[in-house]
Amino acid sequence: MNILIIDDEKAQRNSLAGFLRKQKHAVSTAASGTDGIAYAEKNLVDIVLTDYRMPDMSGMDVLKNVKALNPDIDVVLITAYGTIETAVEAMRAGAFDYLTKPIDLDELEILLEKIQERRYLVSENKRLREQLAGRYRLHNFIYQSQAMAQVAARATRIASSRATVLIRGESGTGKEILAKAIHFASPRKDRPMVAVNCAALSDTLLESELFGHEKGSFTGADRQRIGRFEQADRGTLFLDEVGDLPAATQVKLLRVLQERKIERVGGNRSIDVDVRLISATNRPLETMIKKGTFREDLFFRMNVVAIDLPPLRDRRDDIPLLLDSFLTKFSEENGREPMQFSKEAHDLLMKYGYPGNIRELENTVEQAVVLARGCMISTMDLPSAFRELPVENVQTFPILEGTFAEKTAAFEQGLIRQALEKTNGVQRRAANLLGMTERHLRYKLQKYNMKS
Ligand SMILES: Nc1ncnc2c1ncn2[C@@H]1O[C@H](COP(=O)(O)OP(=O)(O)OP(=O)(O)O)[C@@H](O)[C@H]1O
Ligand SMILES: [Mg+2]
Repeated sequence: MNILIIDDEKAQRNSLAGFLRKQKHAVSTAASGTDGIAYAEKNLVDIVLTDYRMPDMSGMDVLKNVKALNPDIDVVLITAYGTIETAVEAMRAGAFDYLTKPIDLDELEILLEKIQERRYLVSENKRLREQLAGRYRLHNFIYQSQAMAQVAARATRIASSRATVLIRGESGTGKEILAKAIHFASPRKDRPMVAVNCAALSDTLLESELFGHEKGSFTGADRQRIGRFEQADRGTLFLDEVGDLPAATQVKLLRVLQERKIERVGGNRSIDVDVRLISATNRPLETMIKKGTFREDLFFRMNVVAIDLPPLRDRRDDIPLLLDSFLTKFSEENGREPMQFSKEAHDLLMKYGYPGNIRELENTVEQAVVLARGCMISTMDLPSAFRELPVENVQTFPILEGTFAEKTAAFEQGLIRQALEKTNGVQRRAANLLGMTERHLRYKLQKYNMKS
């Protein structure tokens, strides 16, 4: 490490310098605070060891000046009179530590090791952050699991082509954000990505939305309209929820994909379009094909490249990174100090099943940031689903046979059994955990003929 010694006493300077050089550090010395600061301004310095009492300025002033110059420099004060007050003042002003004279060389060595270790951690942390930031910028896409690394690699590989992509995955797994990532990694990135949600519009509106219409083509079409396909020309069209495409629109879409031409509703002219299509769905298209509600030929056109986004519960390795990233993002967005999860809250967040996938995780963190009083997010800031339900059961609770009443009864029994197990059969505590009175619990136990 590059160490600068500032001390007005020559003997002290030289003996320290000699010792540190033997330890293979690069050492320079200065005989006054002013000289030392001037040196630190022009040279690479990792650590400053400065005397507390010097004629031109105090060690405290050196500390403040050096920190102002470069907060990454670690400063250690050396004082002849080790009073609590000076120590406290120094630490407050950002000193790494302080040593009292005569300097114990073993102590100095340990201190330097500590500094070195911390500097390593800080730089490692910074490197990881930058790596993450880079990833974030590239894709807006956070992951560290093996499964998602494969998805990202596949997406990157096919981004440069014009191949039609079908993204499949449960709600909230990131289908839209992946579509955007592909668009922005493609040569079309300077052209628009236009999104259409096929489930949100009625049949006629959807067609005019996609292909546009000519004036007077139907009631209410009082002017010409350019459709999304034309808007997306030389860019990307993102068709969300394609499982909801009505049959008639499926036929038209198939023709567009085959011929790369569209016709506006009520028009008779074909217009060339150069569009890369990315579609997404959370519906089982194969089953729909069997039932005849989705055209097989359209499916093959759309499914040239298939990307499956696994649900979050199957890539739990992503959870800690997602939690961290969203925590930082929402702390900043809400103008709050950097926040943390309490150990208990973090445990719950790590264990939860996330049926709503990343969207649910993201919303949970945002809500917690808004609710938290200080910089610590506690279990109380999490939705009740995290606190009340035994986490494992959220994801695995079976869909039972029977009527709704039978299902809820079975669910209640499951909850009660778990609460009793957790509390070793102590009804008062189990009732507490369940958020019900003990009397109510006893009633339920009787009703379901359960023993505690
Ligand atoms: N890998 C990821 N990195 C960062 N944010 C993500 C990631 N995946 C999803 N998100 C975020 O989660 C939310 C849901 O993602 P998105 O809208 O892409 O999901 P979806 O699969 O399209 O969901 P739906 O089927 O409900 O439309 C968004 O706010 C998105 O930014
Ligand atoms: Mg979506």
